[in-house]
Amino acid sequence: MDGLHSRRVAFRRTPIDIAVLASGSGTNLQALIDHPGVRPHIVLVASDRPGSRALARAEDAGIGQATVLWDEYKSRSDFSAALADVVESSGAKGVVLAGFMRILSPSFVDRFPDRILNVHPSLLPSFPGANPVELALQHGVKVTGVTVHLVDELVDHGPIVAQRPVDVLPDDTPDSLHQRIRVVEHELYPEVVAAFVEERLQL
Ligand code: GAR
Repeated sequence: MDGLHSRRVAFRRTPIDIAVLASGSGTNLQALIDHPGVRPHIVLVASDRPGSRALARAEDAGIGQATVLWDEYKSRSDFSAALADVVESSGAKGVVLAGFMRILSPSFVDRFPDRILNVHPSLLPSFPGANPVELALQHGVKVTGVTVHLVDELVDHGPIVAQRPVDVLPDDTPDSLHQRIRVVEHELYPEVVAAFVEERLQL
């Protein structure tokens, strides 16, 4: 090579810290806490619901918590700005939605571009919104599932990172189906979030 030596240097990115946003029972949050590749990078759990089980799980795991109350703000964008401030001041560079049931304004998304991940209990783009499990049953689909995607300014929308199917059984109720979907979420989401914190997600 004309006397020149070529040398390959492998760069390893520094993992990013994340805030997890959760409104409810927090079983997905628990699956993230239980994953050794994810837990050290969770610096905050924030919720819109005081007393939620998700906040108790964070407390038990020794993770800092914050509550941002929807009713204390005049608009979605004020609520979202307050939440973004809380996330930023925790030092988190990424946001992981784990059953967070408020719609975030575009200004929130702009503050963490390509750094917000969501898990949704359907095969998007089917059944976005608040009742995806019920809608899957009402439409009589034979297969539904789990989607993990990056969040853009639309609801349950953005580049899809991973999907897994779940069969709908003839005698399923919303509860029984959601329970099987959660089992799949608890496997898939921690794997994807572990890649997300190490910035090795491939779309
Ligand atoms: C999960 O199934 C999650 O996919 C869903 O809420 C549930 C939260 O359960 N999220 C959405 O519907 C977002 N559009 P969890 O509190 O037990 O993790």
